[in-house]
Amino acid sequence: MNVDEDMIWMRLERRSYPIYFGGLRPICNHPVDGRTILVVADSETAQYSDRVTAELAGAKAVSTWVFPAGEVSKTLATAVEICQAALRLGCGRDALFIALGGGVTGDLTGFAASIYMRGIEFWQIPTSLLAMVDSSIGGKTGVDLPNGKNLLGTFHQPAAVFIETDFLRTLPAEHLAAGMAEVVKYGVTLDRAFFMYLERELELPAALEDQDFLRSVIRGSCYLKANIVRRDEYETRGAVRELLNFGHTFGHAAEVLSDYRLLHGQAVAWGMTVAGRLAVRFGRWSKADAARLEALLAKCRLGREHYDCSGLSAEAVLAAMRLDKKNRDGRLRLVLPTGIGRASIAKNVAADDVLAALREVLQ
Ligand SMILES: NC(=O)c1ccc[n+]([C@@H]2O[C@H](COP(=O)([O-])OP(=O)(O)OC[C@H]3O[C@@H](n4cnc5c(N)ncnc54)[C@H](O)[C@@H]3O)[C@@H](O)[C@H]2O)c1
Ligand SMILES: [Zn+2]
Repeated sequence: MNVDEDMIWMRLERRSYPIYFGGLRPICNHPVDGRTILVVADSETAQYSDRVTAELAGAKAVSTWVFPAGEVSKTLATAVEICQAALRLGCGRDALFIALGGGVTGDLTGFAASIYMRGIEFWQIPTSLLAMVDSSIGGKTGVDLPNGKNLLGTFHQPAAVFIETDFLRTLPAEHLAAGMAEVVKYGVTLDRAFFMYLERELELPAALEDQDFLRSVIRGSCYLKANIVRRDEYETRGAVRELLNFGHTFGHAAEVLSDYRLLHGQAVAWGMTVAGRLAVRFGRWSKADAARLEALLAKCRLGREHYDCSGLSAEAVLAAMRLDKKNRDGRLRLVLPTGIGRASIAKNVAADDVLAALREVLQ
């Protein structure tokens, strides 16, 4: 994939926004004169808040609000705290929120921005690989409930996304690997050439630490995701955006059951592995294709030996999956590959088949 530009446009019916790959410099294209700005960061990503606020000259007031890092913070209570911090700062309807962090920060800040005074503007400045390739674009926001992930949420698009790959230098290795799960997801479901590019590049030693490789993967992923979101902004049933949930129905269940010890990307990698085995059972793709997927995940340090699923049972995962937002009338609806670079929705999947695929992977 060759995406050479310094930015791409997320083109939507009602409003388009830029995704910049050139770090924080393009912030100057979006003057903030006279505006009140709340930067939201977690306890790790707050280290970059000075770099962001230095770019906000002319703003009326800028403040950074920091919450404890981790998925356990992705709650309604934290979203309410963000709104209260905004009130204290004097944010009105023309204020701006800036999400500076990974997917947790982005989902929380976007959610808070979508409900604060009935909705205000926000920017995404992603700092994790996962957020750069996936969660910062597309407008899905949300928080978790004890019963499941992202059960409260809105569609609220950012006004701009600024990607600074330098930030990845401090991202812990296991989080870098976790971000690759979403990258592999694009290859499997949408683009065979991209999948093969990943297979080739990940043969090279230390590919995951190579900034040029990461930059190219980020551009390719944003391009693919933007193209899907443009065609199906609100994830209409049966339309293309649903394909991006590949691995996620299994993954969300595993995340919740592990009390979030499994990282989102690890859980998605595990979920793609199970879905891949299920697709073999249904004769949708070959054993060889499933093996290629598993080999690629292992090269991303997302093989089954790279994380701990020992506490999961097939029955518990199935029960948790029944809560998924995508199911209708209690019937399981799953994204399954039909080849490398192609996938479709399987409806009415029988519980016994799901259990068999789960047992295969969990044994
Ligand atoms: N909205 C969407 O479309 C969408 C898509 C995919 C995932 N998600 C959500 O994203 C979340 C997962 O995202 P995530 O993996 O980025 O989680 P995260 O935000 O918790 O970040 C992972 C960890 O890395 C740390 N971190 C982030 N950037 C860093 C940096 N540059 N240097 C040092 N540490 C850094 C964070 O503090 C955190 O501890 C999940 O809640 C998932 O549901 C949302
Ligand atoms: Zn995901």
